Amino acid sequence: MEATLRAGVLEHGTVELLNATGLGARMQREGAVHKGIELRFDGRGHRIDFVDLAGGKTIMLYAQHEVLKDLIAARLEAGGAILFEASDAALRDIDGKAPRVTFIQSGRAQEIACDFVAGCDGFHGVCRPSIPQSRRHEYVRVYPFGWFGVLVQAPPSSDELIYAHHPEGFALVSTRSPEIQRLYFQCDPQDDVAKWSDDRIWEQFRSRLATLEGWRPREGPILQKNIVAMRSFVCEPMQHGKLFLAGDAAHIVPPTGAKGLNLAVADVWVLARALVEFYRAGRRDLLEGYSERALARIWRAEYFSWWMTSMLHTFPGNDGFQERLQIAELRYVTTSRPKAVTLAENYVGLPLA
Ligand code: DHB
Repeated sequence: MEATLRAGVLEHGTVELLNATGLGARMQREGAVHKGIELRFDGRGHRIDFVDLAGGKTIMLYAQHEVLKDLIAARLEAGGAILFEASDAALRDIDGKAPRVTFIQSGRAQEIACDFVAGCDGFHGVCRPSIPQSRRHEYVRVYPFGWFGVLVQAPPSSDELIYAHHPEGFALVSTRSPEIQRLYFQCDPQDDVAKWSDDRIWEQFRSRLATLEGWRPREGPILQKNIVAMRSFVCEPMQHGKLFLAGDAAHIVPPTGAKGLNLAVADVWVLARALVEFYRAGRRDLLEGYSERALARIWRAEYFSWWMTSMLHTFPGNDGFQERLQIAELRYVTTSRPKAVTLAENYVGLPLA
């Protein structure tokens, strides 16, 4: 868990929540505040200034697995139990009187009796399929491309993230620390990292990120390579009986815009408040309304991630017409304040309240 690479962008509201819950200390020390991004197309860069366009808000570059380390440490420090290496997890009686989670750990069958189950077990987990098929609907888009991600030992090529549209395909320049860069380029989702030499990878980055002034990425040893598949997915509703889904168990976004972790945090925030009000005041309405409330935000992020993906990637069979529409839209976003505001306020994230 602590080694798997995922996205690295925290929304304004995620940062505030981590700070407010006492989980932000290491993020404040080691993360980097970013005040904008660059959209690059036709050989030119265009800055989207979040501070100006999104009411002073910014984002934080702090890797998702670092957030996980902080969450795990805080849970253990609070005396909470985390059961690692459990297998064969299953839910029982989630719409009955005695909901339970059963699993095997250290060779022994075990069981947890529950008032409620928070299904935070990811896209491939057991919670979503525990909702009877007739009681849920799944909305899916699979994109005909993936992202080839590399971790590079070299200082950042740029102070801010660069999202590049290029006829050969999308490219993204991100960072992890003053010594490590994270870069991605659009690839065939079936491609194999073993077929890509470092030279061939750098060729792609040089070409897709080139500007008229001859910009080049800072190169260095490639420490890791992986391919990320891209899909949009939403399960409705996100609850059934005593089970409440949160995060990837209920929805997936393509990585463009880095919404995945932020959406999971927002789900949990809505669910936590509903649970607190149930135990504090006996209220059931917030639990009953969980799915509807969470889905409003989720669909907005689904829209944003789909829009960014559609605007920036080359689609197989792309003709000149579609490519010119993409360029027209990018010009619009980079010259019209209302359009730029749309990108900026969605990128820094909706308020949690
Ligand atoms: C990163 C990932 C994203 O999906 C994105 O839009 C921006 C940055 C990252 O891994 O740093």
